[in-house]
Amino acid sequence: MKILFIGDTVGKAGRAIVRQYLESLQQEYEADLTILNCENAAAGFGITPKIADEFFDWGIDVLTSGNHIWDKKEIMPYLDKNPRLLRPANYPGDNPGTGVAVLKTKSGEEAAVLNLQGRVFMPPTDDPFRVADKELAKLPKHIKVIFVDMHGEATSEKVAMGWYLDGRVSAVIGTHTHVPTADETILPKGTAFLTDVGMAGPFHSVIGVVKEDVIRRFLTSIPSKFESASQDARLNGAFLEIDSQTGKARHIERVHRR
Ligand SMILES: [Fe+2]
Ligand SMILES: [Fe+2]
Repeated sequence: MKILFIGDTVGKAGRAIVRQYLESLQQEYEADLTILNCENAAAGFGITPKIADEFFDWGIDVLTSGNHIWDKKEIMPYLDKNPRLLRPANYPGDNPGTGVAVLKTKSGEEAAVLNLQGRVFMPPTDDPFRVADKELAKLPKHIKVIFVDMHGEATSEKVAMGWYLDGRVSAVIGTHTHVPTADETILPKGTAFLTDVGMAGPFHSVIGVVKEDVIRRFLTSIPSKFESASQDARLNGAFLEIDSQTGKARHIERVHRR
């Protein structure tokens, strides 16, 4: 199974570059399954039902997210209605939405997507390691291809999750920092791993935000509004090839467009 994953998509500039390249990337990589992290899609903060519908119309199969999923209140009922828009599984169980999607891909094969969130320098949540154990135990036994979006700030926590799930899932790919790392690998028991996939968004910025807004915050420590930047849009993603019979990864590579 061939999987295309696109990192945190930030604001209008991020959505535009995804729209520009999505179809050609899906063709080039013969993607059976396309996943995108959408937590910053609406002007950098959360996602609206309209934008989620757009992503699905463009051909995204599953939307993952993270701490920003709660920013737009109008997404709450949509989270309960649309099981292909995920929020991290280790938020309280009675929060809207779910952290796991099981779906049939274009080729007719089944796959699962699990969204987790780290706890280091992040809002408080349940333990993502133990929640991963519980969610994996609940999956039907015949599901072999399992993709994990591990949304977290600390590289160490994401690397640890890669090792913790090695051999139990097909891929653990990090999101949240918006800065891509260059450590893509296949771990010894067959799990593809990348600490952070990066973002689809404006790179003339501080991780997607107008740079002056962020510099002012660092200089003054006075809370102020952050606007999404617009210039130098680039798309960061990852391409994965998974053995559908065993669920083990065969190949991982970073994807960049600008
Ligand atoms: Fe993000
Ligand atoms: Fe985040």
